[in-house]
Amino acid sequence: MSSGETVKIGLLGMGTVGGGVAQIIEDSGELLAGKTGARLLLERVLVRDPARGRTVELPPQTYTTDPDTVIKDPSIDVVVELMGGIEPARTLISTALQEGKHVVTANKDLMAQHGRELLQLARRCGRNIFYEASVGGGIPLIRPLKRCLVANRIERMIGIINGTTNYILTRMFLDDMDFQEALDKARELGFAEADPSSDLEGRDAAYKLTILAGIAFNCSLNPDDFPTRGITGVTRADIHYARELGYTIKLLAVAEEKPEGLALGVYPALVPLAHPLATVQDEFNAIFIKGDLIGEAMFYGRGAGALPTASAVVADIIEVARSLQHGGAEGAPPNSNRKPTLLPPAALTSRFYVRLLARDRPGVFGALAAAFGEEEVSLDMIIQKRRQNGIAEIVLVTHDVNEERFNRSLQRVARLPAIEPDPSVFRVLA
Ligand SMILES: NC(=O)c1ccc[n+]([C@@H]2O[C@H](COP(=O)([O-])OP(=O)(O)OC[C@H]3O[C@@H](n4cnc5c(N)ncnc54)[C@H](OP(=O)(O)O)[C@@H]3O)[C@@H](O)[C@H]2O)c1
Repeated sequence: MSSGETVKIGLLGMGTVGGGVAQIIEDSGELLAGKTGARLLLERVLVRDPARGRTVELPPQTYTTDPDTVIKDPSIDVVVELMGGIEPARTLISTALQEGKHVVTANKDLMAQHGRELLQLARRCGRNIFYEASVGGGIPLIRPLKRCLVANRIERMIGIINGTTNYILTRMFLDDMDFQEALDKARELGFAEADPSSDLEGRDAAYKLTILAGIAFNCSLNPDDFPTRGITGVTRADIHYARELGYTIKLLAVAEEKPEGLALGVYPALVPLAHPLATVQDEFNAIFIKGDLIGEAMFYGRGAGALPTASAVVADIIEVARSLQHGGAEGAPPNSNRKPTLLPPAALTSRFYVRLLARDRPGVFGALAAAFGEEEVSLDMIIQKRRQNGIAEIVLVTHDVNEERFNRSLQRVARLPAIEPDPSVFRVLA
């Protein structure tokens, strides 16, 4: 540390999360100094527009639009990147490490796509990158996985790790809203961004799963390594039927170690109402972990927002302060280069929910059952409801079936003349 116990921080970005960090330092700086022996000081703050009003007032000379005055300032101990996006964040973090700074970031897009390269650079520079806030906002996840659970072989991880989609699905389930109404409500309350496509299409959850599963299964992953499906295809009708069958629908990020390899995916699924993840509502997040030693554990809390996310960022800054207090840089822990065997979805087994429309003719039901039966897909539950104009809605849930075989049975169903195209299909969590 540069002067006694003071940790000088260079902040790259002071929007929602950066404002939260400044707020915590202003409100709780004394408390933190008492608890940790580290006095945090915001020395320099990079923004696009220094004239813009901020939630916390800092001396005007603190702000800069020149990144070099932050990352190359020799008095700065830690660079905290809260700008978001890939560039210029990636270049600025790399330069900061080469300049001998430790780095804290909340940037999941960057850590999911370039985390390995940045961690390797940090190691070469004898510096560290902490990124607790990149997954689960204020919920401690990365440090518990890296440290507290390190003795466990993680068998399974199922997360609700996107607050926007969980808010939308909760409103559809509890308030009978359709998708658009729920999205509008999420926007009104600030739970959805102006362009929510990364959340709705599951990409945000895929980035977070890449980071978490890489740590939990000690391997190197890429967001393109596994299938990702978002929630835009979830309709009010599916939510109604799910409820009738004793389920809700959630966007899940799933990683499971099987004897043959690692199964990963992000997809909406029916979750039994009795499952702990079914009770995770609104913008909350939760990660359900099964380890060979601890058994089942669930981490729950606010996955986003200025103060919850800033809470994790400040904890990372304190972690840097501690490593500096104990003799300086420890260097980033080795990051696994192990490429796991990834199981293709076709090889996986699951139960499936199918909702389809059929022209209400004699024999349709029998033909449907035969199409599934010919592929040895056995059915667990069936609901049939008559709709207008001679159309019937049929909902069925299969027993566990290999996905490849299930898809073949769906192709047979699609060839039946009385069946309308494009059924709704979701996995069902056991
Ligand atoms: N918001 C959350 O709840 C949340 C939760 C978890 C993780 N995160 C992650 O935290 C990071 C920050 O998110 P946020 O919501 O705080 O973002 P934000 O509100 O959009 O703030 C971004 C900040 O970075 C500055 N900035 C952006 N590009 C810049 C550039 N090229 N040069 C200089 N300054 C630049 C902006 O300056 P101006 O203020 O002058 O425009 C602003 O202060 C992201 O990686 C995000 O994924 C956010």
